[in-house]
Amino acid sequence: MARDSTDTSSISFTALYTGQVWNQNGLSAPGFATPRGRFYYHAMTPFEYIGGKLVGGNIRTFLLQRHQVIDDRVADAIENRGVTQVLEIACGLSPRGARFAERYPGITYVEADLPDMAARKHALLQREGRLSDRHYVVDCNILARETPDSLEKVLSDFDLSQPVLVVTEGLVNYFNLETISGFWERLALALHAFPRGLYLADNYPLYDDMSFLRTLRALGKLLGSVSRSQVSFHFHSDDEARNTFMNLGFQHVTIHDPADFYERLSIPRSRGRSFVRVIEGETEQPADPS
Ligand SMILES: C[S@@+](CC[C@H](N)C(=O)[O-])C[C@H]1O[C@@H](n2cnc3c(N)ncnc32)[C@H](O)[C@@H]1O
Repeated sequence: MARDSTDTSSISFTALYTGQVWNQNGLSAPGFATPRGRFYYHAMTPFEYIGGKLVGGNIRTFLLQRHQVIDDRVADAIENRGVTQVLEIACGLSPRGARFAERYPGITYVEADLPDMAARKHALLQREGRLSDRHYVVDCNILARETPDSLEKVLSDFDLSQPVLVVTEGLVNYFNLETISGFWERLALALHAFPRGLYLADNYPLYDDMSFLRTLRALGKLLGSVSRSQVSFHFHSDDEARNTFMNLGFQHVTIHDPADFYERLSIPRSRGRSFVRVIEGETEQPADPS
């Protein structure tokens, strides 16, 4: 039977691997580990070792870089920019929601994913005693339109009088630029309903002078075929990423390089350029002319 074109659940198994990476690195409680995640983690270990030797940074390096840079930006949004509510789409088994809900009990933290993964996360948080009316899980499919799990519907349940932050981690490069731009444009539009809207996403650029372009392209193809998705590298420079976001409706855009956080955060360092960037987009409601 043909797959519904908005059904991208074949990507979901990757969350078991990343969930295990967070777990092995002390970022989540033991209850967040899964047997399959453990299996993938150990199966990848020899490749990680070779990647570290050859390319100067393995997959776990950039996963930990992106996760902790995003954490830093989420904390900044809450502490310095008035954010009281967070929507984390494609949450998978990420422990971020649990950590931030505990650290900032006054905020609302909504986690979201495709139905099967959302149900799994709900059960996990329930088992861990972490669900509350300020921290819960909903269904959301970034490709869905005019359905209860669409971005617009999920965001319409937030408090429109308060700033909001949306996070996607490990999601956008599973889609080609045209498809994901459609989501980014809808997101910018939906964020304009709030006094301030922030968006954080990791992204993998393909700089023309990168010494391992061929290896990266091959890795992308492999991941695309096992996850039956269109793994894509969207941008050739930070400027291109920034301009794309500005053209899609974000008013301020910052591209974060993990290297700028090496002194401040305890994150692994890449030998040479890091493979990952964290994009931070911001929307503001126009001032009331009256
Ligand atoms: C690589 S995992 C990342 C999980 C988590 N953010 C992390 O970093 O550990 C990708 C996630 O995207 C979710 N996903 C795939 N297609 C999606 C879609 N169309 N809308 C929302 N989430 C989706 C998957 O279910 C999975 O949880």
